[in-house]
Amino acid sequence: MKAIVLGSGAWGTALAIVLADNGHETWLWDHNAQRAAEVEKSRVNPKLSGVTLPEGLRATGDIACLTGAELVVCATPSIAVRETGVKMAPYISKDTVVVTVSKGIERDTNLRMSEILQETTGNICKVAALSGPSHAEEVSRRMPTGCVAACSDRRAARFVQDAFMNDYFRIYTSYDIVGVELSAALKNVIALSCGVCDGLGLGDNTKALLMTRAMAEITRLGEDMGGSRRTFGGLAGMGDLIVTCTSMHSRNRRAGILIGQGKTAQEAMAEVGAVVEGYYAAESVWQLARREGVEMPICQCIYEVLYQGKQAKDVVRELMTRAKKDELLEKTWM
Ligand SMILES: NC(=O)c1ccc[n+]([C@@H]2O[C@H](COP(=O)([O-])OP(=O)(O)OC[C@H]3O[C@@H](n4cnc5c(N)ncnc54)[C@H](O)[C@@H]3O)[C@@H](O)[C@H]2O)c1
Repeated sequence: MKAIVLGSGAWGTALAIVLADNGHETWLWDHNAQRAAEVEKSRVNPKLSGVTLPEGLRATGDIACLTGAELVVCATPSIAVRETGVKMAPYISKDTVVVTVSKGIERDTNLRMSEILQETTGNICKVAALSGPSHAEEVSRRMPTGCVAACSDRRAARFVQDAFMNDYFRIYTSYDIVGVELSAALKNVIALSCGVCDGLGLGDNTKALLMTRAMAEITRLGEDMGGSRRTFGGLAGMGDLIVTCTSMHSRNRRAGILIGQGKTAQEAMAEVGAVVEGYYAAESVWQLARREGVEMPICQCIYEVLYQGKQAKDVVRELMTRAKKDELLEKTWM
């Protein structure tokens, strides 16, 4: 099978390695032709130190590599997904399966990544989402990892499962693309919040409290928007939340630590030096929560820290002194 991965960053490269390992004719495309040429020549990606690209994997800056592709993986940062969807559109047919692996919600429209790709490709192909607890640094070293391939079309979900699954990359299928994509975007906001806790010098108790109550919020919003409750307790939900909130691989968490230590959001993002998707998702989630009338106190607080200049230590106190609640009598719990 011919497979193309759009975006030769850390995650795109790791996924291209998986596809090449599985014997597919695999191309890694980058919008920066010079970067693609460097990867093709050096056979390494600077973001994945110590990993050499498999021989069968080719890198290119020519978007025409999409010609005849059966599988197209969009692995750009979420802010570049629309632009990439427009570029890929002329090469997509009804037989192509497109997979989004970007984690975010589009600013202004509040669309999920698969919705953007459906829109830009004129709804002619199946679009799936692949997500789960998966650091590129570990997948590219072939460390055992599990993800979910979600699509409302079960055949397309199984197609993605077959393309990626091997003895170090285990794929489950799911019909719940809404839940999987919302989990992916929302966990970045919570990873940022956990980083803030770390930056404030708070402990493991605080982080466990934050992650667990955040999952209640994610489930509330996710169910309200049509996601399945079970997804939020699964690999793309709880699994990804755990890995992102506890690992230094997460740029969202690293940005949060800097904010907890007193930096502004802009200073923290500049220091991290890469797109901090949780920053943008925090605004979208705040808008969605208001639109849907869903109570999301943790997301509300992190929004106020990021966008309204509230002090992190003040919102911790605010959250801790909210009205008394019964854990089991909430409208939604997993
Ligand atoms: N890094 C991970 O471990 C990981 C794991 C799962 C999902 N993801 C998701 O995958 C996506 C990519 O993350 P990453 O870590 O690979 O990022 P990265 O910063 O390493 O790479 C991003 C890639 O996108 C390309 N790009 C940037 N702007 C572009 C544009 N306007 N048009 C086309 N391409 C553009 C860059 O050239 C680069 O190749 C994100 O949405 C992230 O949440 C990452």
